[in-house]
Amino acid sequence: MQIETIATRPIDGQKPGTSGLRKRVSVFMEPHFLENYVQAVWQGIGGAKGATLVLGGDGRYFNDRAAQVVLRMAAAEGVTKVIVGQNAILSTPAASHLIRSRKATGGIILSASHNPGGPEGDFGLKYNGSNGGPAPESVTEKIFAATKTISEYRILSAHDVDLSAIGTHRMGEMEVEVVDPVTDYAMLMESLFDFDAIAKMFAGGFTMVFDAMHAVTGPYAKAIFEDRLGAAPGSVLNAVPLPDFGGGHPDPNPIWAKDLMDRMMGPHAPDFGAASDGDGDRNMILGRGIYVTPSDSLAALAANATLAPAYKGGLKGLARSMPTSGAVDRVAEKLGLDCYETPTGWKFFGNLLDAGRITICGEESAGTSSDHVREKDGLWAVLLWLNILAEKKQPVAELMADHWKSYGRNYYTRHDYEEVETAIADAMVDEIRGRLDDLPGSAAGPLTVEAADEFAYHDPVDGSVAEQQGLRFQLSGGGRVVIRLSGTGTVGATVRVYLERLETDPAKLDADPQEALAPIIEAAEALTGLKARTGRTGPDVIT
Ligand code: G1P
Ligand code: ZN
Repeated sequence: MQIETIATRPIDGQKPGTSGLRKRVSVFMEPHFLENYVQAVWQGIGGAKGATLVLGGDGRYFNDRAAQVVLRMAAAEGVTKVIVGQNAILSTPAASHLIRSRKATGGIILSASHNPGGPEGDFGLKYNGSNGGPAPESVTEKIFAATKTISEYRILSAHDVDLSAIGTHRMGEMEVEVVDPVTDYAMLMESLFDFDAIAKMFAGGFTMVFDAMHAVTGPYAKAIFEDRLGAAPGSVLNAVPLPDFGGGHPDPNPIWAKDLMDRMMGPHAPDFGAASDGDGDRNMILGRGIYVTPSDSLAALAANATLAPAYKGGLKGLARSMPTSGAVDRVAEKLGLDCYETPTGWKFFGNLLDAGRITICGEESAGTSSDHVREKDGLWAVLLWLNILAEKKQPVAELMADHWKSYGRNYYTRHDYEEVETAIADAMVDEIRGRLDDLPGSAAGPLTVEAADEFAYHDPVDGSVAEQQGLRFQLSGGGRVVIRLSGTGTVGATVRVYLERLETDPAKLDADPQEALAPIIEAAEALTGLKARTGRTGPDVIT
């Protein structure tokens, strides 16, 4: 076996986004594209000679081929050992856990999360560090810099490793340990939650459906919910992972998990419904007749977490990404906990978790997790909900109604405009940025702007600063609008408009969010002129 050095040239567009590098599969499969980026990762992390790495992905199209390329390049780099999920499969939280539990140097996760898969879909790669979390910006910047100067990469000419066979293999000098993707993760979950109490609830007739969306969580969910906790066989829907996710869009929200949504709103709905995304880090929570928004779910989990064994001793603090609703802040206030506001993207929670400042954190985009890993964790959120329900013995809708009575309700919605021409989106952001200082006091539709700024984050742990993290507007009547451009899209720009208002009047807690937010939606359009600029009549996706 021989290490080949291949001459190459920098390829444009290899800047990592909110969560690693994501591109169309066809782009990732272009000559040298993947190899250039992997070589840049080695360089960005200061070399990987002697390292122990974890490798796995969400099973999407090209996952298996890409894994073999990463292995051959790891062998050429002098990596000592790679721990790989069987068939190169690992959910993102399971990968994070393996990195931590095996004290690995880091890991490579092959995923484009909730983006569609298949030959026409997307692919992605991200590097996580030794804490199990996504590389911080200081590292992703070095990786990006390396993509711009690369002139060669090294790869071992070797046969594929049989990744279907659990056990130890070799590739050149490097050890390749193939592990069952589910076992360690399921044990971790069992150590955090009261599985007996949850099993008792199922034995008592509690019903649930979990939609794995033909993505990575199917085998995890079957093993945990059906095999260990005794949920009725068939409770896990779309449980077989497919390279194209069955042609669906593996994003757990009311739009893309519509069948589940309809079922939970229908006459014979089970007690509990949930879904996860392509790589298993997102979650959607439903009760009979109720969809719990991710922001509300974060707040409810934080308020009740001490009912689960792992959090019995209390929480250290809480955090949410800036565009996430303020519902969790109200819980923090009541519990006397610090609550941090971070930019969008899980990587910003890492320092707070590592420093022991927070226990639970989340994002409005259906990501919630705790200090048990350094990624968001879809099944963890579902299990914490189940543990809480097993203790409180009340329906989800009732639990949320009680929650809103105690804390008020942060009406919340996000409007996405997808595949907007990049130039139009950039021009809009620049133009609004230019008049931020003049906005306070001026009218925005039916409301008045009270404050306007652009969010910048000063990391309290390492002092790093992340600028231009979203335009924020405080409006009269307590409303808030946030505008930012997605950092995960692969075609054009996605403009996200986040809309929120707190309601504390007990008589007004049952409104439809789109109606409760109508004046704020109007104000957002007045502030941005988004519809006129894009020629659209409304958002493509409302969550
Ligand atoms: C989106 C979400 C963000 C999440 C990220 C990765 O990023 O908004 O909360 O962390 O996906 O799952 P965006 O496309 O908005 O940059
Ligand atoms: Zn994901």
